[in-house]
Amino acid sequence: MIDVVLIGDSAVGKSQLLARFSRNEFSIDSKATIGVEFQTRTITIDHKTIKAQIWDTAGQERYRAVTSAYYRGAVGAMLVYDITKRQSFDHMTRWLEELRGHTDRNIVIMLIGNKSDLGTLRAVPTDDAKEFAQRENLFFMETSALEATNVESAFLTVLTDIY
Ligand code: GTP
Ligand code: MG
Repeated sequence: MIDVVLIGDSAVGKSQLLARFSRNEFSIDSKATIGVEFQTRTITIDHKTIKAQIWDTAGQERYRAVTSAYYRGAVGAMLVYDITKRQSFDHMTRWLEELRGHTDRNIVIMLIGNKSDLGTLRAVPTDDAKEFAQRENLFFMETSALEATNVESAFLTVLTDIY
């Protein structure tokens, strides 16, 4: 079993990325996550069956104490911001600090700029994110849970690297 956590500000699309990856579903009227939820998906890497358990944490500040307790066992993390919300990207530094403070040094981390379907409203240049990812030694991808762009690829990159 591989444990991966999804973290980032509220409303960036963490739950919908997971809905897309685990059930190939998407919901426009997604409710804010309360505390922590999880989904599992079985994947095949190198002809071996691997079960991934993905923990979806609440981005809202008031749940922070609850959610950080779930970082401990994680060997992978998806650090998610919304490409149309600059603040959600600026907060990545804090999320990363919090993550690194609670997890093993070898954790595999993917920076994700979600909502790439909203390109006309973009507030975070791709190059800014690339630079940050490079500096912090993170994988980086832009995704759209709505259009199912790069979602599979983002999760599989992390899971394969862990494996
Ligand atoms: P918390 O649970 O509060 O931390 O939020 P969250 O990060 O889980 O956000 P959630 O997945 O609930 O999505 C928030 C809103 O963004 C919902 O209205 C989603 O439908 C929408 N959304 C999520 N992903 C995308 C995307 O790729 N494109 C667009 N256009 N909207 C998205
Ligand atoms: Mg959520």
